[in-house]
Formats: sequence, structure tokens, C-alpha cells
Amino acid sequence: MKSSAILLLAAMGVLTTQVQAAQELPDKQAPLPSVPKNPDQTYLTPRPLSAIPEGAFGDKVRMGYQLFVNTQQLRDKYVGNELNCANCHMDAGRKANASPVWGAYFAYPAYRKKDDKVNTFQERIQGCFNYSMNGKAPAAGSPELVALSAYAYWLGMSGLMDAANLDGPVPELSDAELVKGAKREDFPLPDTLAKAMTVEQRANLPGRGYPEIPKPELAFSPERGKAVYTAHCQACHGADGQGQAMAGVYSLPPLWGPMSYNWGAGMHRVNTAAFFIYENMPFAKSIQLTNQQAWDVAAYINSHERPQDPRNKGDVKQAQEKYHNDNDYYGVEVDGKVLGTGSYPVFPKKS
Ligand code: HEC
Ligand code: HEC
Repeated sequence: MKSSAILLLAAMGVLTTQVQAAQELPDKQAPLPSVPKNPDQTYLTPRPLSAIPEGAFGDKVRMGYQLFVNTQQLRDKYVGNELNCANCHMDAGRKANASPVWGAYFAYPAYRKKDDKVNTFQERIQGCFNYSMNGKAPAAGSPELVALSAYAYWLGMSGLMDAANLDGPVPELSDAELVKGAKREDFPLPDTLAKAMTVEQRANLPGRGYPEIPKPELAFSPERGKAVYTAHCQACHGADGQGQAMAGVYSLPPLWGPMSYNWGAGMHRVNTAAFFIYENMPFAKSIQLTNQQAWDVAAYINSHERPQDPRNKGDVKQAQEKYHNDNDYYGVEVDGKVLGTGSYPVFPKKS
């Protein structure tokens, strides 16, 4: 590889990122890892959508993009709320530190605490359909999961190729390869890239996930969070947290209640929501909140009722003990009600 390309990759942090030392099974309690933020970081830049090629492969990538930004086209088929993937994976899944799909693609197959097994990329997406979208995931190998995988792959691979000065189209892959993800020794990769980075380095691209912020000084508090919400959030998301729709289309997504993510989604955890909010909300205003405010407002939005945890077999206490031992309000009494006991249906039909 040219030395200029090595420098570019090094500048991106690709060659210098600290990576987890050993490939061991993560602790069952460990949250989904993000890559720590570094102020001097430059991030992978995917090619623009206009560079998606003509032809069958390009059509899959384009379909993945369309599904990602307008996931509502799958309403009632696979989606049971008013959200779109891009509401949480911002800038159509391209924004660093907003859990970009290019960062995710190279990190699967991976062990996942939630279902205690190794997940392929398509299985991870199925999780977001079942929980974040309060729906029912498309089957493995379905055109939707192939398309979403193709989109993530194309964004990531085009960015890595550009960083290494590799011209030409992103290599096409079969559907079976696409849905697995790229964290494996046998993943087909241009030689230059295969030599430039280890599998582990590719799996830890700067900008992956929602970066952690320090624990708050004071224990997080929904009461204080309510004041933050009123000042910084309610103009868009509404005093009742239900977002705002124009002509039936939600431009400002709901944060709790029947049309938001369910009690099994990653965002229901106060820590995960605080990380997302600190970095990405209030929308388009860069970072405005203090750590403490981000934790408090995350506690506030997540101490409201929402759709049931699909893993609940009929008993909130049981589901709480089994799945909710961390930072969250499921099974916790708030304003005289145990959250989870009055929750909304999983995958309700709109029509
Ligand atoms: C309500 C917000 C929300 C929505 C909507 C959402 N996700 Fe996610 N997604 C998350 C969170 C939070 C995580 C990290 C979960 C964790 O830490 O457990 C995540 C993780 C992921 C990951 C793995 C990221 C990584 O780096 O490992 C992928 C891939 C993904 N989502 C794809 C999707 C797709 C595709 C959709 C739409 C079908 C979608 N998500 C909808 C919040 C959301
Ligand atoms: C200027 C309007 C605006 C403000 C103010 C704002 N948001 Fe958002 N929020 C959005 C938009 C728009 C999205 C979806 C982003 C996208 O699709 O790119 C969003 C998405 C979200 C999501 C993920 C999607 C969902 O529905 O769960 C959460 C959580 C969230 N905002 C919380 C907050 C919090 C907390 C605050 C206050 C600190 C806040 N927002 C302030 C506009 C806003």
C-alpha cells in the first residue's frame, strides 16, 4: 500500500485505535461497546448516495437506504410504531457517534448479551425491528435484511476504500455474504485493506456506537430531568412526549407511549439514552447539555410507560429480574404505578 494511504488510515485512527486486547467472550453484563471518543479523531466518510452504482447490486443498496430512512413503508408488516431507523442512527446511518451503520457492519458477527449468542449483522438488525421498532423482524435472508445489510456494507466499504486511495466500485457480494457482516477472517476484502487493518481494528472504527459519557455526579433524577425536558426538548417532541406529525408523517418522533420504542429496546436504558442524547440532542444544535442534564433527561423520558417488553411471559417482576438488572425503570414504581404493568401492546396494527 502507498505510504500516503497508510498515513490517511492512521489519521483516521484506523491504525492507532486502541482495540480490545483479546478476542474473548465478553462479560454477560457488558453493554454494547462503543468506540471511545478522541478529540483529534477523523472519521470514516462514506461515499455520497449519488455514487451508488447502477445495476442489481446498486438497487439493493438503494433499497436499504430507502428502508432505513422511511422504515414506515414496512408499517404493519414489520414495524409497529412511528419510528424510522434514521431517528436514532442519524443522518441516514452515516453520522459518527450516532451508532453509524458503517461502524456496525465491520463489528459483526459478534457476541451479544441480550440473546446470549453470536449474532450476525442481519440478526442484530432483527433485534432493532423487534425492540426499537416495536415490530416483528423480517426473516433471515429476506430482501429487506439483505438490502439493509448491503447499504451498511456499501457505506463502510466505500469509506475505507477512499481512505486507502482505492478507486473503482465497491466489490459486489452475494446476499449470503452480505447478511453476515465483516468481522471475520474470511470476509472478502480488497488486498490493500486486508493488509492495512486487522479484523479487530475494522471492528472498532472511530465513531462506532454512542460514545459513553461519565457517570453523573448526582444520581440521575426524573424530577430534574423534567425541567431539562421542558427547556430543551418539548418544543419538538411535545409536552406529552408524543412527537409531532404533519399529514400523518412524524417528522418529530415520539419518545414514550404506544408509538415509541418498547421496554426491550436499548434506548430504554438510562445510560444508553444519556449517551445518545448527550451527543445528538437537542437536534442540530451540537452538544449543549451537561453530563448531568443528559442523564437526568434520559431518566425522565424513560420513566414513562411504553410498549411491553416482548420477552415478558406475563409477569413484569419475572421479566424485570431476568432482563432488567441495569439502569432502567421497568418494574419500578413511578408516581404510584409500577412501570411495565400498564404497558402498550407489542406490534399493534395501524390499519
Ligand atoms: C429508538 C432508537 C432506535 C431505532 C428506531 C433503531 N435503532 Fe438500531 N440501535 C439503537 C440502539 C440504542 C442501539 C445500541 C443498542 C445497545 O447498546 O444495546 C442500536 C444498535 C443497532 C445496530 C448495531 C450497532 C453496533 O454498532 O453494533 C444496528 C446495525 C442497528 N441498530 C440497526 C438498526 C436498524 C436497521 C433499524 C431500523 C429497522 C434500527 N436500528 C432502529 C437504537 C435504535
Ligand atoms: C429541534 C427539534 C428537537 C429538539 C429540540 C430535540 N429533539 Fe430529539 N429528535 C428530533 C428529531 C428530528 C429526531 C429524529 C432524528 C432524525 O431522524 O434524524 C429526534 C430523535 C430523538 C430520539 C430518538 C428517537 C425517539 O423517538 O426515541 C430521542 C430519544 C430524542 N430525540 C430525545 C430528545 C431529548 C431528550 C431532547 C432534549 C434534550 C431532544 N430530543 C430535543 C428533534 C428534536
